[in-house]
Amino acid sequence: MPFYSDEIIEQVRSSNDIVDVIGQYVHLKKKGSSYFGLCPFHNEKSPSFSVSRQKQMYYCFGCGAGGNVIRFLMDYENLTFPEALQELASRSGIELPRQEMTAEARREADRKSQLLEINKLAAKYFYSLLHSERGKRAMDYFIGRELSPETMQKFGLGYSDQYSDDLYKYLRKQGYSDAILKDSGLVTIDEVRGGRDKFWNRAMFPILDANSKVIAFGGRVMGEGEPKYLNSPETPIFNKSRNLFGLYLAKKTKRKQFILCEGYMDVIALHQAGFDNAVASLGTALTSGHAALIKRYTDAVYLSYDSDGAGVKAALRAIPILREAGITCKIINMRPYKDPDEFMKNLGPEEYEKRIEEAENSFLFSIRMMEADFDMNDPAGKTAFQKAIAKRILEFPEEIERNNYIEAVALAYQFPIDSLRQLVVHLAAQEGSGITAARPATRPKATNFAKQQLNREDGPTKSQMLLLTWIAEDVAIYHDIKNYISPEDFNEGILRQVAAALFAQIEAGEGVNPAKISSSFTEEEQQRQVAKMFNTPVAEDADTSAKDLGKALKETVIRIKEESLERQRKAADPSQQMKLLREQKDIIASLKKHDFYHRS
Ligand code: UTP
Ligand code: MN
Repeated sequence: MPFYSDEIIEQVRSSNDIVDVIGQYVHLKKKGSSYFGLCPFHNEKSPSFSVSRQKQMYYCFGCGAGGNVIRFLMDYENLTFPEALQELASRSGIELPRQEMTAEARREADRKSQLLEINKLAAKYFYSLLHSERGKRAMDYFIGRELSPETMQKFGLGYSDQYSDDLYKYLRKQGYSDAILKDSGLVTIDEVRGGRDKFWNRAMFPILDANSKVIAFGGRVMGEGEPKYLNSPETPIFNKSRNLFGLYLAKKTKRKQFILCEGYMDVIALHQAGFDNAVASLGTALTSGHAALIKRYTDAVYLSYDSDGAGVKAALRAIPILREAGITCKIINMRPYKDPDEFMKNLGPEEYEKRIEEAENSFLFSIRMMEADFDMNDPAGKTAFQKAIAKRILEFPEEIERNNYIEAVALAYQFPIDSLRQLVVHLAAQEGSGITAARPATRPKATNFAKQQLNREDGPTKSQMLLLTWIAEDVAIYHDIKNYISPEDFNEGILRQVAAALFAQIEAGEGVNPAKISSSFTEEEQQRQVAKMFNTPVAEDADTSAKDLGKALKETVIRIKEESLERQRKAADPSQQMKLLREQKDIIASLKKHDFYHRS
């Protein structure tokens, strides 16, 4: 339910170009008629996240996230609908009218704010337990890990009690229903035993978002035990891939870079040692969502991942993700210690500061790690290593950069610089098209336009969605089909609603506006479905002739019509069957004779 009139929502939405807005969060590259980038809503290596200026919609071919610019802000920034609208309004200088919310609207908006309240209450509860008699064991644990009272305070550390339902009881007493408590992820509701706390007898680390709101928790066993850390599940207010532990502090740092590390304790130890720029991704590998979040504050990062094999692997994965987001990074060597926490205890802040100064360029780091895969005592191994290096150097788009790296590598490994340079040039020639940068993955599409909808397994909705996508991309197609297809030919439910809305827009002379249609649905899932309907793969091959398109369109129309007529007939009275069957045949026969899309 909209809290604001459809007109004002549409005014705000249409005055914020989706490519401009998303471009501030995601590194986008133009490809065909769309823009592509790494999806901020799931972890991926090649871009399947698309943004269309024409449709004013985004859609991820990988995870199915999609919607218009308002939905993007809601999901990315964790905002309620009115908050997102407000943000976009102020971005484009529009004054929003003060409005009374409908009951349903309020409920929607309230859900997120209730979850935030619950997390805040829980944080306060855990905090006061830590400082009470009952929290002595956790307090001793934190003291044992050399945390000062100020540090405990700054990070709002706490303790969850030994009882398995005291938080649940406490929150119930504050007036929260089982339903909302269950959504908070802090309790589970068991039909027999009632509410149970997720966290008990653990040292508690609240997770705050960039606006210092508590959105989740990590709880550590005090001593040995599995799992070492238990984390809140993802909830409407907690998305692991879009939050960083410590960000609310690091965003205020005066240092130019961030330090990216692996764990809660690493961040805390670094802050305590005066490195107020430390953040960590939580219990998950770094995603492009994290990188985009970091990019809002800085474009340079020091990686301080664990020095063990797992840490190195994680660093090698993180480097390209950061680079893709436009962030350069250097790697801090903490040997012989494992992580920043251990390092600080043993060598202290000054020594760490030195390690920052000596941090290694991420390219040279990855080359050095790669070296272990080759036998450098064997000439063949050495050659293979040099070839692998040349291949990596080719990934740099600029010649000056390539030259600098050729020089640096030659120096570091005592390779003759000219032979390395020759290797690079040779490899570039081999690759044909000259020197290329890493290319984004192509959008899934069939090579032959007509092939796409011939695949019967895709079912009726596929052809219906395909038609919607075609119309959204070329309104002329609507005029080709409107005498044959009406909204009633679409499956009942959201597909039919979208078709009706789209057709109505065109008939009213408004032009095609998928983003506005998306606005008329409130649920995230519905908006994803709408985005999918307008992004069913359509080939963009230059050699797609009008004839091919006409053929594909015709087959699609026939299929939609056949299925629709079949549906109607099955629902009809038995006495009507013969008549309907005859009609069905006639309609299809006339469709088969018609020429669709006969343009030059
Ligand atoms: P570590 O095991 O390196 O944690 O895992 P740590 O922060 O150094 O913890 P201490 O020093 O042993 O107390 C790194 C991060 O991975 C996640 C946590 O976010 C942790 O901080 N993790 C680890 C989990 O989510 N669950 C686990 O069971 C373990
Ligand atoms: Mn540790």
